Amino acid sequence: MQIRNTTSGFGAVAIAFHWTMALLMAGLFVLGKIMTDLDPMAPDTFALYQWHKSFGFVALALVLARLAWRALNPSPELPEGMPWYERLASRLGHAGLYGAMILLPLSGWLMVSASPWGIPTVLFEVLPVPHLPVPTALGDKAAAEATLKSVHEIFGNLLLVLVLLHVAAALKHHFINRDVVLRRMISTHVAGSSRRI
Ligand code: HEM
Ligand code: HEM
Repeated sequence: MQIRNTTSGFGAVAIAFHWTMALLMAGLFVLGKIMTDLDPMAPDTFALYQWHKSFGFVALALVLARLAWRALNPSPELPEGMPWYERLASRLGHAGLYGAMILLPLSGWLMVSASPWGIPTVLFEVLPVPHLPVPTALGDKAAAEATLKSVHEIFGNLLLVLVLLHVAAALKHHFINRDVVLRRMISTHVAGSSRRI
């Protein structure tokens, strides 16, 4: 099995990172939307928030490891003949997705650090995480928490838009352009070529 990327295909590690994180981000998004609709005082809601925070930190750790792996590997080239504006859209879209994967957990972490409730964050009830220093420019604790909540929500909605565009682009490559772009994110055996099929 091909572990590392080549200039024409993704290796097993990049593929595993992509699909693990896709699942995790989708799960965190849905959990975030569900838990904020529930009675905030119910014990079950509290437990869901703790799961959301714990898996949010897993996402942060994974995206940092993924970016390190990406820096150490070649990036597969886009198919020949792809117009410049689609290449640009692909670069911007991927940068936006990486940005969302970093800024969502960071804004969440800052939000719980600002909370006047001072609820500790203990990952999976085992690993305590310290609160971050919250910029004083955001006002007192309650004001800072409210701003960061909005920021977190906006980043979440931005993630949804980016992912929908991203999936539409992947389907266009597969069904309309009929190239290897989607298949090479599923199997390392497609790594042989970036030509059209
Ligand atoms: C990549 C990871 C994350 C994603 C995709 C994500 C996504 C979301 C979404 C979609 C919501 C609902 C926002 C709304 O519509 O009101 C939410 C709420 C929330 N998230 Fe995250 N989140 C992530 C990481 C984190 C982390 C690491 C923390 C804390 C350490 C956190 C803390 C919270 C809290 C406290 C809320 C509830 C805010 C409220 O009460 O309105 N999140 N998250
Ligand atoms: C059904 C859902 C998804 C499909 C079909 C899909 C498909 C793909 C494909 C085909 C590529 C390779 C593009 C290329 O060769 O240049 C890719 C790359 C990427 N995807 Fe997805 N994806 C999905 C979900 C997600 C989600 C939920 C995220 C993040 C929240 C995500 C983040 C990324 C990133 C950051 C890259 C760039 C990888 C790199 O070159 O560093 N994807 N995706």
